[in-house]
Amino acid sequence: MKLAELFSFVFLSAAALGALADPAVPSVERQKETCVIKASGTNATDDGPVIREAFQNCGHHGRVVFEATTYYVNSVLDIRDLEDVDIDIYGKLLWSTNIQYWLNHSLPVGYQNQSTAFILGGNNLRIDGHNTGTFDGNGDYWYSFISEQPVHSDFPGRPHAPTLNGLTNSVVKGLNFLRSQMWTLSMIYCHHVELNDIFVNNTGNSVQSSNTDGADTIRSSFIKFDNWTVYNGDDSISLKGNSTDISITNSHFYRGLGIALGSIGQYKGEFETLERLYVDNIYFENTDHAVYFKTWTGDQNGFPPNGGGGGLGFAADMNFTNMHVSALRASAVAFSQCTTFLRRTRKLHQLAFHIRDITVTGIQSTSNSPRVASLQCSAVAPCDNIALSEIDVTLSNGTQISQYLCGNVEDPRGFSCTRAAGEC
Ligand SMILES: *[C@@H]1O[C@H](CO)[C@@H](O)[C@H](O)[C@H]1NC(C)=O
Ligand SMILES: *[C@@H]1O[C@H](CO)[C@@H](O)[C@H](O)[C@H]1NC(C)=O
Ligand SMILES: *[C@@H]1O[C@H](CO)[C@@H](O)[C@H](O)[C@H]1NC(C)=O
Ligand SMILES: *[C@@H]1O[C@H](CO)[C@@H](O)[C@H](O)[C@H]1NC(C)=O
Ligand SMILES: *[C@@H]1O[C@H](CO)[C@@H](O)[C@H](O)[C@H]1NC(C)=O
Ligand SMILES: *[C@@H]1O[C@H](CO)[C@@H](O)[C@H](O)[C@H]1NC(C)=O
Ligand SMILES: *[C@@H]1O[C@H](CO)[C@@H](O)[C@H](O)[C@H]1NC(C)=O
Ligand SMILES: *[C@@H]1O[C@H](CO)[C@@H](O)[C@H](O)[C@H]1NC(C)=O
Repeated sequence: MKLAELFSFVFLSAAALGALADPAVPSVERQKETCVIKASGTNATDDGPVIREAFQNCGHHGRVVFEATTYYVNSVLDIRDLEDVDIDIYGKLLWSTNIQYWLNHSLPVGYQNQSTAFILGGNNLRIDGHNTGTFDGNGDYWYSFISEQPVHSDFPGRPHAPTLNGLTNSVVKGLNFLRSQMWTLSMIYCHHVELNDIFVNNTGNSVQSSNTDGADTIRSSFIKFDNWTVYNGDDSISLKGNSTDISITNSHFYRGLGIALGSIGQYKGEFETLERLYVDNIYFENTDHAVYFKTWTGDQNGFPPNGGGGGLGFAADMNFTNMHVSALRASAVAFSQCTTFLRRTRKLHQLAFHIRDITVTGIQSTSNSPRVASLQCSAVAPCDNIALSEIDVTLSNGTQISQYLCGNVEDPRGFSCTRAAGEC
């Protein structure tokens, strides 16, 4: 077929299908398969099947559109191996309240025995919520369910909202996440992904939310978080095992724990690292900390997610600049190499996980805690090359905070320890 004939063939077939082919759009664009997903309009009908079908039909060099309406997601979604897809989300995906269904069916994340309601993966995806697209986990049901359990944290089968698994060379932007069931966005085996202009609000309407991290990276690299706003009840953004070359910039974190490194060291004998993190221009309001390292203990007590320890590895090469804090609840910088679900352990500070080459330059404004830093490092792998400078933080009465608690910190740079033990 000649090129001109090919063009008219494409144009005619598109017209025959009733598609609005715009002659001004290049033919390659016109050929792109678009699937506009039709919502059922009632939570009695699961929109899972039509969502899965759209990705089957348009998941390679196509476009998938969620319209400005509510989609009821009553079943797990496992959507992977997409290639070169535009995913436009104008409306809301609302997850069902059938807790027993999710506990029975949620999909494995592949880390810490965690599970998820939705796996999305592929190469070269452009996921755009246009600042209106929303993932609503209906988390109020989960927050009251979990508040009645003995451990208010991980519960087997409690799902993450979405998990990006094997997402590469992609952009996620302009999305809202409301009341996630558990962690908001987990990322595993993701490389070269940008996540921009994201709003997360996991504030419970009746019961306070717990374990609702903003985002977690696992075995992922070259991930950029820019312009995130997170209201939650746990880690604002957390780097977990084998997260490397990550940046977090221009973001606002409210009420959570701050930027978390870990928890890590949870898997006995396994080697994991956190390397090359760049953090700049972050606002923390009423969070526990700005920066928070947490590693497990030297001995293993139980299994992940609610136990473990005895891991190996290191965290290194991290720079934090321009941090603005307001009404912090605890030390601005916290290293806690003693996470355990047990009250007593003989190897509290004995984890062979090494924290080094961490530079914090510039923390300003106010705190409710007199502590700039509480660094409780490992006795068998003491922290070294930790630099803290340009700290200008005051209590509400105007007094500068000036306490530096240090356990097993070698050669502190830019500060002097005021007490020879950190907090756990
Ligand atoms: C459907 O919505 C109603 C009212 O909001 C709610 O009570 C019910 O649990 C929902 N059902 C599912 C399956 O989500
Ligand atoms: C979940 O599993 C339990 C135990 O196998 C079963 O009794 C229950 O009917 C299941 N519920 C759902 C909604 O799948
Ligand atoms: C940051 O993201 C919000 C949505 O959460 C958006 O409204 C705002 O325009 C973005 N800011 C910039 C500078 O892009
Ligand atoms: C977050 O959600 C809570 C609970 O619905 C609501 O009261 C609050 O206004 C929300 N915050 C923002 C900034 O939207
Ligand atoms: C983490 O990465 C290291 C290489 O840097 C590798 O040896 C180790 O197996 C990885 N750990 C996991 C749990 O993937
Ligand atoms: C941290 O800063 C040091 C000194 O400027 C630089 O050599 C290093 O590459 C930076 N690392 C990251 C991850 O930003
Ligand atoms: C999951 O938990 C069980 C026991 O609760 C444990 O035996 C198993 O090793 C854990 N698996 C992983 C991958 O952590
Ligand atoms: C400010 O409050 C702190 C903590 O209560 C106290 O130690 C300090 O003396 C107060 N400073 C002034 C100037 O009142």
